Amino acid sequence: MSTLKAVRGTRDLLPPETALWNRIEATARAVFARYNFGEIRTPVFEDTALFARGVGEETDIVSKEMYTWEDRARAQSEKSQLLTLRPENTAGVVRAYIEHKLGETGQLQKLYYIGPQFRRERPQKGRYRQFSQIGAEVIGPPSAGSESPLRDAEVLEMLATLLDELGITGWTLHLNSVGSTADRARYNEALRAVLVSVAPRMCQDCQRRAVTNPLRVLDCKVPEDQPIIETLPKIGDSLDQDSKAHFAAVIAALDAAGVPYQLNPRLVRGLDYYTRTTFEFTHGGLGAQNALLGGGRYDGLSEAIGGPKAPGIGFAIGEDRLVLTLLAQNAEDAATLKADAYIAPLGEGMNAAALSLARELRHVGLYIELGDGSFRLKKSFEAADKTARRIVILGEDELQSGVLTVKTFSTGEQIKVPREQLKAVLAEP
Ligand code: HAM
Repeated sequence: MSTLKAVRGTRDLLPPETALWNRIEATARAVFARYNFGEIRTPVFEDTALFARGVGEETDIVSKEMYTWEDRARAQSEKSQLLTLRPENTAGVVRAYIEHKLGETGQLQKLYYIGPQFRRERPQKGRYRQFSQIGAEVIGPPSAGSESPLRDAEVLEMLATLLDELGITGWTLHLNSVGSTADRARYNEALRAVLVSVAPRMCQDCQRRAVTNPLRVLDCKVPEDQPIIETLPKIGDSLDQDSKAHFAAVIAALDAAGVPYQLNPRLVRGLDYYTRTTFEFTHGGLGAQNALLGGGRYDGLSEAIGGPKAPGIGFAIGEDRLVLTLLAQNAEDAATLKADAYIAPLGEGMNAAALSLARELRHVGLYIELGDGSFRLKKSFEAADKTARRIVILGEDELQSGVLTVKTFSTGEQIKVPREQLKAVLAEP
């Protein structure tokens, strides 16, 4: 029989690497809490129409990459439904905002999420078909201040803080404004007009985008197309006064907070809902898929999916890419997490006493690996060296005398420790 494997583009995450995932998530939760965000958990699948209307029919995500299926009716009373595994979570969060009438509270909603997303992309390093995002959204009625440029700057400052606390060094924040919906429409027309004559000299993708979604031409990575792209009109020139002033205020607040950024007039992002501020944080260590995270403002998204006016801004971090970056920066990061002690019972008659000792030590917060009395001492030492920083030997003599033998692997030192002092010794680094 052929062996079954994880589906292409999906992966199992195993220890010790999962310890790093947990540390990242704990740090993210702690930082979000300090900025007064609360967690939202939305379903992993949604009505396909949500993404078609929210993210945009012409985007790569919706037109090519979604996992969509027909959920067939099982009874006369049911209707079949087109469902999709979420390719991103902003549309789902805004759907929930509308469904639960969160706007009626009159307050800004500050929501974060951590969870899997699904896109049928060609798998490569840093790009998977199931991947995890850590994201956050700030959304609310305009009267709650949801349009304020201060919200944009605060979100960006929070991201800089989070990446710094995670220990990610050498990130770059790329910043742009794609203007209001009207600005974007004007810019699209300007681009379209120029592309009519130059697109035939560009790559196949650009020729298609020139017709379907001209903004995406700016994202093209084909080297031969770059000189042409440089000559195209810049979106900054299509912004109206309000959008220009909004962007200037975001920049002024970032300058005041000391958050470094690079203005990048070509940053347009691959989802249709963006308005005004858009951004990406990149990291050189990631190779071709160098975007650690992306986000921006989406002032018209709620209305696009049938809700009230509810401007918002948010981001999503590629958690898989955070892990890759941290592993590359600090190779031993995930591998060095070991238990405080390994308890080795000498003979099977000591197993019960060893469980009791392990229980006592675990109750005071120590990380304990429990061996087995059927192992020879040599085998116990080998197992202990791989999984723990110290070994504690528990034989008949030790049980009677209440004095245990403890060996520390890093120094090779072996000492006798009275049981009352064991906790303190094992807690030492
Ligand atoms: P996005 O740029 O499509 O934006 O994705 C955000 C991040 O998710 C990317 O920068 C990348 O790190 C990660 N990512 C995307 N696709 C993959 C993949 N196939 N494998 C691994 N990582 C991936 C959004 O999803 C928007 N919802 C962000 C947002 C929130 N905008 C406003 N609010």
